[in-house]
Amino acid sequence: MKRVLHIKSSINGNESYSARLGCALVHKLRNLYTDMYVVTKDLSEEDFPHLGGDTFAAFFVPKEELTPDQEHLLRISDKAIQQVMEADILIIDAPMYNFGIPSQLKAWLDQISRAGVTFEYGKDGPKGLIQNTKAYIAMASGGVYSEGAAKQMDFVSPYLRTILGFLGITDVDLVRVEGTAMKKLQKQSIETALDQLQWTD
Ligand SMILES: Cc1cc2nc3c(=O)[nH]c(=O)nc-3n(C[C@H](O)[C@H](O)[C@H](O)COP(=O)(O)O)c2cc1C
Repeated sequence: MKRVLHIKSSINGNESYSARLGCALVHKLRNLYTDMYVVTKDLSEEDFPHLGGDTFAAFFVPKEELTPDQEHLLRISDKAIQQVMEADILIIDAPMYNFGIPSQLKAWLDQISRAGVTFEYGKDGPKGLIQNTKAYIAMASGGVYSEGAAKQMDFVSPYLRTILGFLGITDVDLVRVEGTAMKKLQKQSIETALDQLQWTD
């Protein structure tokens, strides 16, 4: 069975292009894997919490020394890490907001990036501990960033590839719906975006 974790981060609900693209990816994967289990997490809808100082401090307390309050603080991070560790495939809906990712998605990444749990430093430098996970990034932007002058202003795709790679997720495919704020590009189909990928097992 393939386990898919679908992370949504748009603030635009049903109008979201990245969410539509992410859902289309799920749909496409269903054709590939008949036995597939999908967990969907909508970070905006559930008001996913930003990482606070007390929670970050608790990251470094040995498990057996955690107070009940610290255990409580860690539950969001623990659950998010468990979900990502259990996934064979991770789909991240990534809208571009102010040239970067939404703060909700950054909050989720801050909660799952934990020394000794999802990454560690050894004699050869950093090592990501989330292994054997394939990721798809469903990116949506109002403008066009895949080519041309604005390419250097895209801090979504390089950042996501970097942080996922740091955590051990190096098999990453990125699909874009671009120009969602531009009348003549707006109507481009999700299918066209999906055609950017090779769909083989
Ligand atoms: C708060 C906010 C900031 C945005 N900043 C940018 C931006 O920097 N560059 C851009 O091309 N589009 C920007 N947009 C437009 C979005 O990238 C576009 O609407 C995209 O479709 C968002 O994905 P979504 O539909 O999944 O929410 C912004 C939209 C919002 C709501």
